[in-house]
Amino acid sequence: MNEKIKRIGIFTSGGDAPGMNAAIRAVTRAANFYDLHVYGIYGGYEGLIDGDIRRLETSDVANIIQRGGTILKTSRSERFLTVEGRRTAYENLLAQDIDAMVAIGGDGTFRGALQFYKETQFPVVGLPGTIDNDLYGTDFTIGFYTAVDTAVEAVDKIRDTADSHNRLFFIEVMGRHSGYIALYTAVASGASAVLIPEYDTSFDELVENINRSLKRKKLFGLVIVAEGNKLGSTVEIAEKLQEKIKDYDIRVSIFGHIQRGGSPCAYDRMLASRLGYATINALLEGKFNCMAGIINDVVVYTPFEQTVQLKKNPEQELIKMAEILGL
Ligand code: F6P
Repeated sequence: MNEKIKRIGIFTSGGDAPGMNAAIRAVTRAANFYDLHVYGIYGGYEGLIDGDIRRLETSDVANIIQRGGTILKTSRSERFLTVEGRRTAYENLLAQDIDAMVAIGGDGTFRGALQFYKETQFPVVGLPGTIDNDLYGTDFTIGFYTAVDTAVEAVDKIRDTADSHNRLFFIEVMGRHSGYIALYTAVASGASAVLIPEYDTSFDELVENINRSLKRKKLFGLVIVAEGNKLGSTVEIAEKLQEKIKDYDIRVSIFGHIQRGGSPCAYDRMLASRLGYATINALLEGKFNCMAGIINDVVVYTPFEQTVQLKKNPEQELIKMAEILGL
């Protein structure tokens, strides 16, 4: 047991994700069990720089496991990208006698934590909290399955109207650099096609795919588009396609931030609880500068260097499967 760690800071950073609260709860409760004091850092790295740090007791994390968003608030901090910002953050941690931190967030959050460690040797353990599921070192990230559930539920509704009007819908889901939400949503909602950043689909291939559907007398269609796909903006793709395909009346629906909110699904609550608990075990064992994740149902710790350098991509077989099942 690492006797040096007595006070732990915890914050959420980057885009919020359903299940972040469940992770805050798990970290706080596991820490309190080992008589460690937990301090909530409000507003991510911004709050760290501003010194917005307050004690979190077990009772403060009651009744939050089911809540979306993050009770600690979040931000995408520009100031933490500067040496000066990081220096102020470090001084605030020393002033509060905080010995280690738990960072819940995505790629950008861990990039910041790694840089901070290089400059200060301050121990940080990361928890993967992002709806994008694009982090190397874990099969799934906290929030991903809830976002997919939200998107699938909405696509099911679009399907009703698409079917009634014999229309082709282009549906944009989140993922600036990641196609996981799009791919899983496409498979789970039975879409005809999916466009993701990790896979090149040419415009001609898309036209061919839709024409094939028409030949099969498919009366309506659903195409799921990841925000960051390589063909361009969803509206532009749809307009361009409408010029080529006259038999379908095309419409566009952009889901946006609705995918980030809502109560976390049971899977995300489990994942957040397991990883929150694992984080405290890691700190007590003297493990830090790494992200806790679950691979093949086993908790693993991946150094931040790898988490930020290596990209996790959807399996080729899954992409092929989505294509085949969508035909
Ligand atoms: O948090 C991840 C994410 O939701 C991406 O899928 C999306 O591209 C981005 O954040 C949007 O960020 P913001 O809310 O800052 O516009």
